[in-house]
Amino acid sequence: MTSPRNAALEYALENQEKFLNSLKDLVRIPSVSTAPEHKADMLIASHWLMERLESLGFATRLIETEGHPLVFAERTIDPAFQTVLIYGHYDVQPAEPLDLWLSPPFDPEVRDDCLFGRGASDMKGQVIACMSAVESILKTTGLNVNLKWLIEGEEEIGSPSLTPVLEEYKELLESDIVLNTDSGMIARNTPTITYGLRGLAYFELRVFGPQSDLHSGIFGGVVHNPAQALCELIAGMHDEKGRVTLPGYYDPVIPVSEKEHKQLAESPLDEDFYLKQMGVNELWGEEGYIPAERIGARPTLEINGLYSGFTGQGSKTVIPSWAMAKISMRLVPNQDPAEVQQQLVKYLQTHAPNTIHWELTPMAGAPASLLNTSLPASEALADALEKAWGKKTVYKREGGSIPIVYHMQTILGSDSILSGFGLPDDSVHAPNEKLDLPTWYTGIEALIHFLFNMQDLEK
Ligand code: BES
Ligand code: MN
Repeated sequence: MTSPRNAALEYALENQEKFLNSLKDLVRIPSVSTAPEHKADMLIASHWLMERLESLGFATRLIETEGHPLVFAERTIDPAFQTVLIYGHYDVQPAEPLDLWLSPPFDPEVRDDCLFGRGASDMKGQVIACMSAVESILKTTGLNVNLKWLIEGEEEIGSPSLTPVLEEYKELLESDIVLNTDSGMIARNTPTITYGLRGLAYFELRVFGPQSDLHSGIFGGVVHNPAQALCELIAGMHDEKGRVTLPGYYDPVIPVSEKEHKQLAESPLDEDFYLKQMGVNELWGEEGYIPAERIGARPTLEINGLYSGFTGQGSKTVIPSWAMAKISMRLVPNQDPAEVQQQLVKYLQTHAPNTIHWELTPMAGAPASLLNTSLPASEALADALEKAWGKKTVYKREGGSIPIVYHMQTILGSDSILSGFGLPDDSVHAPNEKLDLPTWYTGIEALIHFLFNMQDLEK
């Protein structure tokens, strides 16, 4: 007789094409959370998800916010069972620059065992993997685990409307563990659990010079060019050792312990790993730290965008009247985005010359999080990954951010366990994002094992 696990695994195998079609349908909806012109698509995507979850027997509701809505769903069978809250986000990053895509970002296409499209990996693929695993179990044998879903539409913009929702729906969102598949794998065939995420503090800095653009010959030499002033300010934000110069920036940062240094030194995330992926001659970063530390355990400051003056074809001799930079810091545990904002303001007050004036607008902000890997549910996940891949699970501290993980910890008191089936070369947030399908199918198997493992856990 086939065991319930095997029945579900078999169902998953037989329905791979159906699962893939479902993912393609979701990728076709251009749910770009940052773009006002996609507001209607956000609603379409959330309703699409509700319909899918209803068809699997979940009671669903749309939770409205000031921004994009969240999808909640529930199937509670017995309070004595474990309750798993499955987290996801249905929003994606903008697809631009469009001309670099080999197939249109919202017209998913399979090439070489990969599905190409915006959100295929981050994280519509992961959401559909969770739904496919749940479907495989519920359509075959059933499961003695209470399941809840929370799928948000603002993750990629820092979840600005989230905290009031978590406060208001605290009871509804209660669970024993949150399964979050918004992270990825260290490499193909290397099952990975993420136990740390960095936070983020994101700003737009505008520098204003003359009241209008000027002829650069008539005025060049008597006025401070705002593009130059902005570049000077930005250049001063790092010292020659690659350290961030904002006053007090490193004060709260917890030093990397000897033990963690040793662990990270053995991680496959070494110089070579990064060199191979990026097509640069040499790495760059904070002196005295290895790459795995610089990504996982040290904070950074990045310029995400720069704009000023004439950038069209040809030439134009002009002194621009203003310049703008998008600047963000990746934060580590103990750093507070609001304090970092104060530090940036202080830096600008100290260093901005009298020749210009500036304006700083805060955008996304979220603290970092560190997770407990010895929770029973974390071990259940590690075991599930090992069953699916036949290899030991690797633990990683991630450089990216998922704001809700911190907020769920502090507001709901809920711990998250993080994994996911994206690969380092998936080009997330970049042109030609893809999802490796063989890895994805194995991921669905792993999630089936995980849910059965949770059923076996004593409450
Ligand atoms: N899934 C990513 C975070 C991530 C990336 C985890 C790579 C593991 C590996 C998530 O969707 C993301 O990109 N988050 C944003 C959040 C920000 C806007 C607050 C990020 O990190 O830039
Ligand atoms: Mn993302």
